[in-house]
Amino acid sequence: MALAGVGAVSATAACGADAGRSPVRVGPESPAVAVAERAREQAVGSGRATTATLTARQSTVDLGGVRVSTWTYGDKLPGQEIRLRRGDTLRAEVINELPQDTSVHWHGIALRNDMDGVPGLTQDPIGTRDAFTYDFVVPDAGTHWFHPHVGMQFDRGLYAPLIVEDPEDGDGYDLEAVLVLDDWVDGVDGRTPERELAALESSGMSMTGMSMGEMQADPATPLGPDTGDVRYPYYLINGRLDTDPMTLQAAVGQRIRLRIINAGADTAFRFAVGDHRMTVTHSDGYPVEPVECASLLVGMGERYDVVVTVADGVFPIVASAEGKQGQGRALLRSGTGEAPERTVTVPELAGAPLTGLDLRATDSARLDERRPDRSHDMFLGMDMSGYTWTINGQTYDTHAPLEVRQGQRVRLRMVNQTAMFHPMHLHGHTFQVDDGRGTGPRKDTVLVLPNRSVTVVLDADNPGQWLLHCHNLYHGEAGMMTSMSYVD
Ligand code: C2O
Ligand code: CU
Repeated sequence: MALAGVGAVSATAACGADAGRSPVRVGPESPAVAVAERAREQAVGSGRATTATLTARQSTVDLGGVRVSTWTYGDKLPGQEIRLRRGDTLRAEVINELPQDTSVHWHGIALRNDMDGVPGLTQDPIGTRDAFTYDFVVPDAGTHWFHPHVGMQFDRGLYAPLIVEDPEDGDGYDLEAVLVLDDWVDGVDGRTPERELAALESSGMSMTGMSMGEMQADPATPLGPDTGDVRYPYYLINGRLDTDPMTLQAAVGQRIRLRIINAGADTAFRFAVGDHRMTVTHSDGYPVEPVECASLLVGMGERYDVVVTVADGVFPIVASAEGKQGQGRALLRSGTGEAPERTVTVPELAGAPLTGLDLRATDSARLDERRPDRSHDMFLGMDMSGYTWTINGQTYDTHAPLEVRQGQRVRLRMVNQTAMFHPMHLHGHTFQVDDGRGTGPRKDTVLVLPNRSVTVVLDADNPGQWLLHCHNLYHGEAGMMTSMSYVD
């Protein structure tokens, strides 16, 4: 096959094989979607089903001494975790008691397109006082999560873990805990995410958001000097303030697996466990060659699993807001004794944090070697008038879908032309980061550092229309979204 698209500059460069046909979009209702789901069921389906009910509504939650009015699933923050095994079917009824439309997106799951939860692209929104049941096979294990895909809703309290167990996982750890990191503004001093976005839109782009050309990257601060647009009053781990942290209880010498999820909207977290080193085992649900580190940078939408061998004592687990003031905190307790002071400095946070780009996929997680059939370039940019973030110069309203055909090996090159990092997330697929050697990690959300580019490859094996966007919610809402569109 001709490879006209490879290395071409135009975002719409087509392969020779595609020329001369006018493409028809493979929509969420198309037979190909149902066929793919049946194939999934046959290949990995367990025949078991897990059911859940998610009631999205306004509620008051206690962050640990601070009460806020916000939106949650079932009055809990985070919402009740959903846990199932690889191959199971998830049947989740979503009841909308919010004053606006909603939806649920199952972040990280290669699911059938019509269950992906993107109003306008894969389904109609779930209206106020309406309900919708999501029903799909969950093909891959891993640490995932779910949240609405409407407006600023997940910067409120609408998020929860989705943990897919692998029956073959077993003796690498003794116990596990899920840690959901979040930046919090909703309900504090009359602030809401919508008002924060409106304020950004009326004040325009900050000078620091603009591209300042290739800067010398400092490994200690890989995200550069401008790490966010919103000044949050609080940072949370599992819905708790650092003044009232949750405690993980373990025995000395036990290996605890921490499943870390960044549910923040505008904050990357630098994660560490005081007096411990961590072994990273998974990124975005997929196994990586285990690597030890003192601290780990977790972008919005990313997940990491780490294993820690518990020492004797009481230790802080810290999620420091990268480039911002504040931290989320929990405690790891094995021995007796006093909890460390809230303000204690954790030396593990100093120095260069590990990022997903440093990881390597295990052999089993690597894609086989293959020449790409289709390449797309995505230029991540901004518009200096107002608060507008773009892909290939367009906001989502006017975006040109990135077309692919089922069965193609697809290469996406994301070129960051701004001085801010963008955690880019693709729905319905897991790509492999192209490190030039075929060993990059499998991920669905990848940090594209300021003025840098990242190339990823994937197999187009899940037909439909798939959102591809910056998981900084403010950037996404201000335009930085596009779609990967299967065509026939
Ligand atoms: Cu968690 Cu479209 O994303
Ligand atoms: Cu962004």
